[in-house]
Amino acid sequence: MKKRYLMAPGPTPISPQTLLAMASPIIHHRAPEFAEVLAEIRQGLKYLYQTKNEVLIFAASGTGAMEGAITNTLSPDDTALVVRGGKFGERWGEICEAYGVKVVNLDVEWGRAVTPAAVAEQLQLHPEIKAVCVQAHETSTGVKHPVQELGELLKDRPGVILIVDAISALGVYPLPMDEWHLDVLVTGSQKALMLPPGLAFVGLSDKAWEFVKTSRCPKFYFNFAKEKKSLEKNQGAYTSAVSLMIGLKDVLAFIQQETLEKTFAKHWLLSKATKAAVAALGLELFSKDNPSEALTAIQAPAGIDGQQVVKLLREKYGITIAGGQAQAKGKIFRIAHMGYIDSFDVIMAIAALEVVLNELGYKVELGSGVRAAEQILFGEA
Ligand SMILES: Cc1ncc(COP(=O)(O)O)c(C=O)c1O
Repeated sequence: MKKRYLMAPGPTPISPQTLLAMASPIIHHRAPEFAEVLAEIRQGLKYLYQTKNEVLIFAASGTGAMEGAITNTLSPDDTALVVRGGKFGERWGEICEAYGVKVVNLDVEWGRAVTPAAVAEQLQLHPEIKAVCVQAHETSTGVKHPVQELGELLKDRPGVILIVDAISALGVYPLPMDEWHLDVLVTGSQKALMLPPGLAFVGLSDKAWEFVKTSRCPKFYFNFAKEKKSLEKNQGAYTSAVSLMIGLKDVLAFIQQETLEKTFAKHWLLSKATKAAVAALGLELFSKDNPSEALTAIQAPAGIDGQQVVKLLREKYGITIAGGQAQAKGKIFRIAHMGYIDSFDVIMAIAALEVVLNELGYKVELGSGVRAAEQILFGEA
């Protein structure tokens, strides 16, 4: 049996403790026992989101909460500005169009971050814009968009909300929702939250809740007002994903015990080490602006297909990383280091990358990337 390693940007590995917690006998979602679980989760999610407001939970992949973010705040014929700097930026536009929300696209070169000035310009050109939709971290390019600055830009405009997809960002680096004026903040369970896929989360600012009151898009399961009302009674509106919620309670307790500061510091260090290794191997980052701490997106060396790197790592060595998506396919590969990942996972991935690059004809000195990573992770000692 081949040993498997998961270094992809979601799903990410899960700790044995969380796996065991999720294997506990099922409890009824309307039982007082489950209400206690939910009470703890509500508090833990507020800590994670750094918000005073309720964070809603849905049984869905992250896209479910993205869809709900649009359908609960906007109406058909409203206009949204969509920052399209990668695959997931495009998704915002697709969701809007599915519900008759008009889209103004702000295209950003893949590998670059949007500038607040470009957003401000669009707002000036299109005063009808009611929402700015963006990724905190565009997973397809490894770039962080400047959502703090966008929050500043929009905070005093009561008619425009900032909708942020933080599916691969929340729990990786600081995104204090209230302090940064992020109006709608979406995430999913299968990345930094160290859980299986299947839960989607969304926090809303007071301003966003005002938008919910007038939204006329069709909605049923993803009804934010209804879900909030239930949650305030420590219930879900429908049958909760009980086992995943038990895992979530465990993970949130762990993050609170560890503290957000330490969690962010860990991701920062793993990312720095991976990026140092990449430089030592003579490779370049794909992310020209604001490379994220969640993953390292690497340009495939000339003459080497990025998909081959991914394939060889997976098929020969049992290591799953991610390739490029859409226009970046074949040109890049991505090593994730978020969630339940530690120093020696990164060392393993770099060591394997060295081996595979050599096998594909890009000659590197074995151990040179590993050494660079170790120097960051453990100092010179
Ligand atoms: C930034 C971002 N947005 C959206 C998604 C889609 O999430 P899901 O596949 O959970 O629906 C992902 C998943 O990789 C993501 O990284």
